[in-house]
Amino acid sequence: ERQKRIRNFSIIAHIDHGKSTLADRILQQTHSVADRDMQAQLLDSMDLERERGITIKLNAIELTYKAKDGEDYIFHLIDTPGHVDFTYEVSRSLAACEGALLVVDAAQGIEAQTLANVYLALDNDLEILPVINKIDLPAADPERVQFEIEDIIGIDASEAVHASAKSGIGIEEILEQIVEKVPEPQGDVDAPLKALIFDSAYDSYRGVVLNIRVMEGVIRPGERMKLMSNGKEFEVVEVGIFSPSPIQRDFLMAGDVGYVTANIKTIQDTRVGDTITLANNPTEEALPGYRKLNPMVYAGLYPVDSSDYNDLRESLERLQLNDAALQFEPETSQALGFGYRTGFLGLLHMDVIQERLEREFGLDLIMTAPSVIYEVVKTDGETIIVDNPSMMPDNTEVDKILEPYVKATIMVPNDYVGAVMDLCERKRGNFLTMDYLDEYRVNVVYEMPMAEIIFDFFDKLKSNTKGYASLEYEVIGYKQSNLVKLDILLNGEIIDAFSTIVHRDFAFNRGKELASKLKEIIPRQMFEIPVQATIGNKVIARTTIKAYRKDVTAKLYGGDVSRRKKLLEKQKEGKKRMKSVGSVEIPQEAFMAVLSMD
Ligand code: GTP
Repeated sequence: ERQKRIRNFSIIAHIDHGKSTLADRILQQTHSVADRDMQAQLLDSMDLERERGITIKLNAIELTYKAKDGEDYIFHLIDTPGHVDFTYEVSRSLAACEGALLVVDAAQGIEAQTLANVYLALDNDLEILPVINKIDLPAADPERVQFEIEDIIGIDASEAVHASAKSGIGIEEILEQIVEKVPEPQGDVDAPLKALIFDSAYDSYRGVVLNIRVMEGVIRPGERMKLMSNGKEFEVVEVGIFSPSPIQRDFLMAGDVGYVTANIKTIQDTRVGDTITLANNPTEEALPGYRKLNPMVYAGLYPVDSSDYNDLRESLERLQLNDAALQFEPETSQALGFGYRTGFLGLLHMDVIQERLEREFGLDLIMTAPSVIYEVVKTDGETIIVDNPSMMPDNTEVDKILEPYVKATIMVPNDYVGAVMDLCERKRGNFLTMDYLDEYRVNVVYEMPMAEIIFDFFDKLKSNTKGYASLEYEVIGYKQSNLVKLDILLNGEIIDAFSTIVHRDFAFNRGKELASKLKEIIPRQMFEIPVQATIGNKVIARTTIKAYRKDVTAKLYGGDVSRRKKLLEKQKEGKKRMKSVGSVEIPQEAFMAVLSMD
């Protein structure tokens, strides 16, 4: 029977260890794509991803492999995103598999992201097949990496394939191991339908396309399906597989991985991790692990040109079609005008959305510094949620402020442990544990305010460890902190988009630093601009952006016509990312200045 020949697996790896290259090789070897059609990194379908080299959206491809035993096997290769912002999606796509190829770079060895993904794979009871990749590199040390895998992860690596995805070494052996070692799917074909949604995407012709793994039962076109989290029902229009282009099928059965369309209009209805069943023969229990994803980080998005406001809304709506985690609602800033408070899973998600808005929709945007979500208990007993620092109530009305905390796990070579601990202490971290993974590397675990992580923690971590440290974090809950709102005034007026929430102990220094940084970033204008930092009504720092000197401007605007034109053009370029706030021109950088301070 069919299930015996199905193998569902993922590839897990640290960024750059060769996941996409290996996936391409596997596709090539199974002749799923003609060589000449072979486009580098086929699984990453968006341009942006290819450029950034990060896999964001999941995907699943069906391959046929003729094994040495003479049988044809059906492989489903399920792609996983590789960044902390997308951990939940990784976990759901792993739940769709029975096995995982663990790709480790033969020169780099195990990294934090490798470990994090391995733990997710182990949580999902997957068979893990280690692959030591890049053995062609002169610095490759497969024996050491093999030892590391056994020592750190605690799985048998004696049969780890030594491979080079780049030169095509070891690919056959990997495919044979998948046949031999990855368990065939279990699951009763005659039971009521139980299918896991592990990805969804919006298609303008077919509506939402769901990527599913059928755990039990069968799904066919014409049946009424039901989403177990919200009870919504839809008629199944089409089922099929990707190979890699979509191929329609008559049914998908227990063990299969494929897609379903059902004229579903909104992706918010079809959250990753949800269970599909049939309306007239439902399963009793949903698959475990469903979680609604909520944004963790909020920022204001404003068009540079206020006439782009409607375009911004439409663009956000378009992106939201394909991104159930993206949230936005209108907000007004005194400084920036009309815009949207936008919620993201994390900083990478935020970067990606901003880039797509600018690149795909041609918008010029000003983004305010990201903020976490605060819980504020007011003196009148009411608890409010604050996702925009400028909305923080006045100090006199605040009883206490709680902020989200994360558990941060930092993997770092021995020599840099001191530097990492210094950094964490400076970022209000509480030390939890430290484990020596081997003689070279240490896992340092801290509990830290999430707000400190979104300020330039990652960059600082990298620069303090020559790039060797890697970071993983998870939110663990809310804790009370001694926080205050820090305001910035230009020309005596509060610029709401510059307001931030800071720890009282850091407020004074942050205010001073921010004021002097803004002085550097905001270009001189025709008049003098006082910059002040305040807490409540108290001014804690003050500086001045000097005016142009008259003779300089006179010279600038003199000269011949062509030079003057050039100058105007240049100014126009520069203006792109400037926003006039009152009479002051403020560049985008200024809004992010608060992120890069100690
Ligand atoms: P993300 O998509 O960013 O998660 O990275 P990835 O893990 O998919 O890595 P990718 O396949 O993009 O490979 C990263 C880099 O390593 C690329 O420049 C590849 O050409 C290179 N690479 C992959 N496999 C090998 C290999 O076997 N040998 C050598 N020398 N380089 C390799």
